[in-house]
Amino acid sequence: MMMLFTTTAGYRNGTKRNDPLSNVLILVGSMREHGNTQALAKSFAEGAAENNNVEIVSVADYKAGPCTGCNHCYTSKDNRCCQNDDMGAIYEKLGRTDVLVIASPVYFYGISAELKAIVDRLHTPLRNTFHIKRLGLFLVAATDLPDLFDPIVLQYEMILRFFHLESIGIVLVGGVKDEGDIQDSDALTKAKELGRSIRRLSNGLNTKYRTENGRILTRSSAFSTSLTIQPPFDR
Ligand SMILES: Cc1cc2nc3c(=O)[nH]c(=O)nc-3n(C[C@H](O)[C@H](O)[C@H](O)COP(=O)(O)O)c2cc1C
Repeated sequence: MMMLFTTTAGYRNGTKRNDPLSNVLILVGSMREHGNTQALAKSFAEGAAENNNVEIVSVADYKAGPCTGCNHCYTSKDNRCCQNDDMGAIYEKLGRTDVLVIASPVYFYGISAELKAIVDRLHTPLRNTFHIKRLGLFLVAATDLPDLFDPIVLQYEMILRFFHLESIGIVLVGGVKDEGDIQDSDALTKAKELGRSIRRLSNGLNTKYRTENGRILTRSSAFSTSLTIQPPFDR
């Protein structure tokens, strides 16, 4: 099921009347169509759709194989991938995207394999045609361990810095295991608020929400990880 949220509202919350709407793309990494990740993404999308064009793309609907590292895309006509799957449609959407949100269940301290496959397929010169400026991260997990989200957040922050992207925020929800568990937390309200706010955010915003004992906490700095930035790589 693909969901598309659009709006005709031109301005709200202090935005200028003639500001163009942003295109927001949410990549959902769970195969569970009624799972916790999807619920979080939908709430964010509802809030964001008040002031932006919003689309949810779920791995449940788009099949993208893992990158094989053949680098065919670096020499092929139109940088086409050797794999003929749904990634072509996703590249087109990414080409129109201003704000990209990665939403995933935690699988063994990483994002889901289906979503990682899409991320890895951005190893292509096609990405140089993208104009994504802002990134967001939503994660859900069954446990509530203190360092549960750190490995993924570290990768997220490395990617932000490498591509010079601004974070619109991070929503981390622990303690949700079965479909529907997330309905009991205030994560959905927070995600919707974050969706509403993205249009009026100024540079430098880095909202982070994380749960403790099933409750969402808002912190300016929720993580202890320190970053060592590596030199940029080209391939
Ligand atoms: C393969 C797999 C690995 C998982 N690994 C973890 C994990 O390392 N830590 C954790 O807290 N939950 C883990 N979970 C639980 C899921 O993150 C949790 O059930 C989540 O709510 C699923 O999201 P969804 O409803 O959007 O599919 C795992 C689940 C699966 C299926």
